Amino acid sequence: MKKEYSPYEGIHAFPPFPVVLLTVKDNIITVGAVHIFSFDPPLYGVGIVPKRYSYKLVEEANEFVINFPTREQIEALEFCGTKSGREVDKFKKLGLTPQRGKAVETMLIKECPVNIECKVIKKIDLGGTHTWFIGEIQAVHIDEKYDASHTLVYDLQRKYRTIGEVVFTRPKAKK
Ligand SMILES: Cc1cc2nc3c(=O)[nH]c(=O)nc-3n(C[C@H](O)[C@H](O)[C@H](O)COP(=O)(O)O)c2cc1C
Repeated sequence: MKKEYSPYEGIHAFPPFPVVLLTVKDNIITVGAVHIFSFDPPLYGVGIVPKRYSYKLVEEANEFVINFPTREQIEALEFCGTKSGREVDKFKKLGLTPQRGKAVETMLIKECPVNIECKVIKKIDLGGTHTWFIGEIQAVHIDEKYDASHTLVYDLQRKYRTIGEVVFTRPKAKK
């Protein structure tokens, strides 16, 4: 038996998805609305609510950095997801180290094992809650000890999780 839900309730059934610490200029914001938009060119998109302080920063800077957090960085995710850069220097408050990138002015988070530098190529306003900024990847930094199973995913029941077991590895397609 399946129960029916309204679109507004049912949208929360979406399975866990990546959650990242996005840096823009010298601010950090927790972002769950993040996805790959193209492999060639390599594009990541992030959805940001226009009233956020970070929204204005992305508009001004035309760039952002995606930093993948680990399970040890829950406190940073919660802090950067509830406090505004208008009132607090999140790098300082959390004792995180800003690191210069290669292609953008925005600071990377040294303590995150993956940093992806992006330049905005398009802004998409769908008339909904989030406006999407599509960023072309300029440079990627990955810790040699990085293990994707240590990164976090988040779901709309407000739970952070690590990634679960591998169930199947698809064979490569023949060319
Ligand atoms: C798990 C989680 C995911 C979030 N995802 C987003 C998101 O995708 N887009 C967004 O605009 N805000 C998102 N937020 C809310 C912002 O992180 C939050 O409003 C933040 O304090 C804004 O910071 P700022 O004022 O410095 O920009 C999320 C918060 C949490 C805790």
